[in-house]
Amino acid sequence: MALLNILEFPDPRLRKVAKPVTVFDAALKKLSEDMIETMYDAPGIGLAATQVNVHKRLVVIDISENHNDPLVFINPKITTLSDDEREWEEGCLSVPGYQEAVIRPKDIRVNALDINGDPFEIEPDELLAVCIQHELDHLDGKLFVDYISSIKRLRIRKKLEKSHKKRA
Ligand code: NI
Repeated sequence: MALLNILEFPDPRLRKVAKPVTVFDAALKKLSEDMIETMYDAPGIGLAATQVNVHKRLVVIDISENHNDPLVFINPKITTLSDDEREWEEGCLSVPGYQEAVIRPKDIRVNALDINGDPFEIEPDELLAVCIQHELDHLDGKLFVDYISSIKRLRIRKKLEKSHKKRA
């Protein structure tokens, strides 16, 4: 397995809209395994292919304490089941060092394909529901900082740009 490079805000490649997966082969399996490894190494609880500069509709998530319950969602679709919303402090491996409160639908259903291309459906709650919505946003080129005030977003952007310059 290999660790993949994670793109950081405001990298424009994070704004690309990912394409549906149509081929379920060994390369896709390898990508999902590398993404899971990269997520554990970071460490984080979710990673979208967009974040590693692969523009396919694939996300990996593991909210378990021991990092031993990875979930793979391919071509995921979300249905909102009620008007109820919930606020959660979100962070992102592509916006390292920052957490902000985001309001999202509370009750959702997710339809997706697994790594073999077989469909499944779940009705997640709590952290998993938040995480899935956050990761799916990545596939549409959206980041959690898009939900906060433009002043806060600009401040985060400037600080990250400064740290990227230092690293370069
Ligand atoms: Ni994220």
